[in-house]
Amino acid sequence: MSPFRGVPALRRLTARPFGIRSLLNSPAPHSQTIATASTRQSDRPRVAIVTGAARGIGRAIAVRLAQDGYHITASDLPTQQAQLNSLVAELTATSNNSNSSSGHKIQAHAHAADVSSPEQVAALVRASAAALGPLDTMVANAGIAQVKPLLELTPGDFSRMLDVNVAGVHHCFQAAARQMIAQQQDVGMQVGKEGREEGREGEEIRGRLIAAASIVAFKPLALLGHYSASKWAVRGLSQAYAMELAAHKITANAYAPGIVDTDMWELIDEGLGSRAGRAKGETIKRYSEELIALGRTSVPRDVAGLVSFLASRDADYVTGQTFVVDGGIIYT
Ligand SMILES: NC(=O)c1ccc[n+]([C@@H]2O[C@H](COP(=O)([O-])OP(=O)(O)OC[C@H]3O[C@@H](n4cnc5c(N)ncnc54)[C@H](O)[C@@H]3O)[C@@H](O)[C@H]2O)c1
Repeated sequence: MSPFRGVPALRRLTARPFGIRSLLNSPAPHSQTIATASTRQSDRPRVAIVTGAARGIGRAIAVRLAQDGYHITASDLPTQQAQLNSLVAELTATSNNSNSSSGHKIQAHAHAADVSSPEQVAALVRASAAALGPLDTMVANAGIAQVKPLLELTPGDFSRMLDVNVAGVHHCFQAAARQMIAQQQDVGMQVGKEGREEGREGEEIRGRLIAAASIVAFKPLALLGHYSASKWAVRGLSQAYAMELAAHKITANAYAPGIVDTDMWELIDEGLGSRAGRAKGETIKRYSEELIALGRTSVPRDVAGLVSFLASRDADYVTGQTFVVDGGIIYT
């Protein structure tokens, strides 16, 4: 039985030396949003970190989650700081003009981090918690692509792909899950054995980990071999996180976009096109017409809609899954 049972939440909080209490004591630019210790997850605005948020799919996810009522920490490489600042300004301005679906003002915060660095990702999670309060959802969206035949790949090409696309997801999931577990302990929410014994039906999920995979996590594309392998690994890693963190009431899932009109697909279009002798834009047009059942290229908003679901309470009973959102290319 929990040593904190029956003790008012704020008293339980003062008994512990770390986590939310230390956040409450530290200078936080948005301290009014930090929930009191007795506030249940469902009573306070939720907080999400989105990596790779400066543009493309990540930006659309940040905008959509803000519309859903999330406070947002937007992250990307330090070189993208200006774009992050403009996203934060847009999210805040939109929220000031019209309230989110949840009825509260949205707060947004920018913090640059390279996801291939575990130290930078840990600092990102700490900065988000200090600015916006307890973390609910991590969207590990940042990723890179490269068009190159397998036989021409250098060791550096291969390891860079895995460092960003696979280790990057791991760093984000690990740092976020550690934060989520510390938060749970802080408010005396005892999970695992005790939670299961109590058998509380519909018990709240206390953390959501969501990663960017791809349709190439199901079927590789030629000339995108190491990229395909990295996304296949993201699918496996998400499943493993789902297994290990279920006891902490943390879910882990991934989204698998198809052909989305972003800077990344421009790079792929150029790379595939130049090798096949096709003009710029021809490959994406051809793939969209020939491969996509719904007959149009995807836009970032298509993917953000799926992530919105995975980040919502409607997805409480969903974990360890990779969902394809491709207009009908891969059928799982
Ligand atoms: N565009 C597509 O068709 C498509 C399809 C399937 C999957 N995806 C995946 O979706 C995610 C987003 O793709 P996108 O099309 O928006 O790509 P994009 O290239 O337009 O944006 C990716 C963002 O990630 C950032 N980033 C790159 N390396 C980083 C690092 N080490 N640390 C932090 N940030 C980093 C970039 O600066 C950029 O802002 C990626 O993981 C990608 O692999 C995209």
